Amino acid sequence: MCGIVGFNGHVQAAPILLDGLSKLEYRGYDSAGVAVRNGKNDVEIVKAKGRLKALYEKTNDGLAMAGDCGIGHTRWATHGEPSETNAHPHCSDDRNVTIVHNGIIENYLELKEMLEKAGYSFHSQTDTEVAAKLIDYYVKKYQKGPIDALSRFMLRVRGSYAIAVLFAECPDEIYAIRKDNPMVIGVKDGNTYMASDVAALLRYTRDIYYIGDNEMACMGKGEVTFYNIDQEVIEKDVTEVKWDVNAAEKNGFEHFMIKEIHEQPRAVKDTLNSVVKDGKIDFTALGLDEDHIRNFRQIYIVACGSAYHVGVAAQYVLEDMAEIPVRVEIASEFRYRHLLIPENSLVIIVSQSGETADSLAALRIAKEHGAETLAIVNVVGSTIAREADHVFYTLAGPEISVATTKAYSAQLIASYLLAIEFAKVREKITDEQYAGYLEELQTVPGKIEKILDDKERIQWFAAKYANAQDVFFLGRGIDYAVSLEGSLKLKEISYIHSEAYAAGELKHGTISLIEKGTLVISVLTQPDLYEKMISNMVEVKSRGGYLMGLTTYGNYGIEDTADFTAYIPKTDIHFTPSLAVVPLQLLGYYVSVAKGLDVDKPRNLAKSVTVE
Ligand code: G6P
Repeated sequence: MCGIVGFNGHVQAAPILLDGLSKLEYRGYDSAGVAVRNGKNDVEIVKAKGRLKALYEKTNDGLAMAGDCGIGHTRWATHGEPSETNAHPHCSDDRNVTIVHNGIIENYLELKEMLEKAGYSFHSQTDTEVAAKLIDYYVKKYQKGPIDALSRFMLRVRGSYAIAVLFAECPDEIYAIRKDNPMVIGVKDGNTYMASDVAALLRYTRDIYYIGDNEMACMGKGEVTFYNIDQEVIEKDVTEVKWDVNAAEKNGFEHFMIKEIHEQPRAVKDTLNSVVKDGKIDFTALGLDEDHIRNFRQIYIVACGSAYHVGVAAQYVLEDMAEIPVRVEIASEFRYRHLLIPENSLVIIVSQSGETADSLAALRIAKEHGAETLAIVNVVGSTIAREADHVFYTLAGPEISVATTKAYSAQLIASYLLAIEFAKVREKITDEQYAGYLEELQTVPGKIEKILDDKERIQWFAAKYANAQDVFFLGRGIDYAVSLEGSLKLKEISYIHSEAYAAGELKHGTISLIEKGTLVISVLTQPDLYEKMISNMVEVKSRGGYLMGLTTYGNYGIEDTADFTAYIPKTDIHFTPSLAVVPLQLLGYYVSVAKGLDVDKPRNLAKSVTVE
């Protein structure tokens, strides 16, 4: 979603701001802008609709903008269409206050009315312009400086935000505030950097300060001071980000997505090895001891998008192995439901970014209801990670492509490990089974490699079906969970309409959509459900559907029914999603490439959805 950068130091700001924005492009955006300060001169603002390239051109790669202090933004439209007028930065008409903003100010219409009465007029359709003018109003009304005005602003607005502000009266400072939207600051060699995402700062520094909720920061040149909402100075520790800078580069791959697909064996191995030591799972770092695990009576898994699909798969594994009831919920539904969370419940929030607005809200609501919370998160120091009672970090590394692959795979591994440990502590599996599961998990990275070695077959098939109008995915049990993810991968980057159905639902409606040549992809990795799946495939075939089967090596009989088959190595039935998802990720990727689409930055989508 939207991205923010800021720079205050001893070199020209605009080229650094543009570089930072280019690192945030992956989050999704439709316009961009920068505001730069040259000493006491007025703030200079340049904006452009569309890709960042346009802003580079307008500013001669930033060189045309003098000044060593500035802020920048990539906007993903929420209030008002993508346009230059609606793009950030926004400012008060006299340029006393200039801001960039991520998030949504919910009560902006009411505030706008109040400001109109006070003599302000508005030129854009955005809530951000209202925010800029409200801050300006407080500065002028109370005359007590930026921190006072910002704390009044924070007390007055409802919603979520990360905002960077330039005040005319403070030419050498940038101010920042945040609530429920990420914002980080780095200081290095007399220069200070700000961004809504660590990826934009890695090139300059790995030592990061996280601004907390309802906190403010004043960024000088090479220094930063933090304040709480009561305007008191607060101390903060620096966190060292260990991510490899190269991890955010393409390293010879054509797209981030295919690079990240290939990084899955490593992501799986690292996540596994982070908690498996000497053949045993060690959850000390998560703060989950055996008494805790024994006490839980109910688990909820709450997430959005692909992370929700991980939950659907995890439900099968946890219930089957650990015999504990699991309910999987979409975070945006969970948060607005009358919740009846029983005592001794564990709520697991799954999130790559750790910043998804609905998942964060669900976490807070779960805590309010007295549940214990565990976050499975990829981004260290993210809000969900900081607020959950326990954190299981997936070690996928930075994921740039909007369509998740390696983070999804690492989340699956985390959920299997939870299931195995819960099963052992709750005495649902023997020591031999426990050892067997862990041994089998160690083979998963190698098996993913094997599937990747055979990617050309999928590429060939994808090219043939790039013009498909509708695609259906069918699966039963845990294969249904994989179908959901396969379908999402295809639709989000290829713009082909696709849907996943539990195969038993076929006869309750979907079958009427099957015509001659409709592509139907059946996932069948579960021996117990294999025959039933074959029957469903035959039903599709007799209505003219074109069938792709996805099954394990050895099930060669499938070729009597399927028109095209992708095979994956055999593994324990619980772990098959880790393998079955890979050909489906490849399929989505190659279809998108064949159609010449923007694979890593699909239209209308954002990597991290920080608004509702
Ligand atoms: C967006 C991304 C998806 C992701 C979902 C949840 O829709 O494009 O890839 O699964 O958000 O994000 P999270 O960061 O919470 O995992």
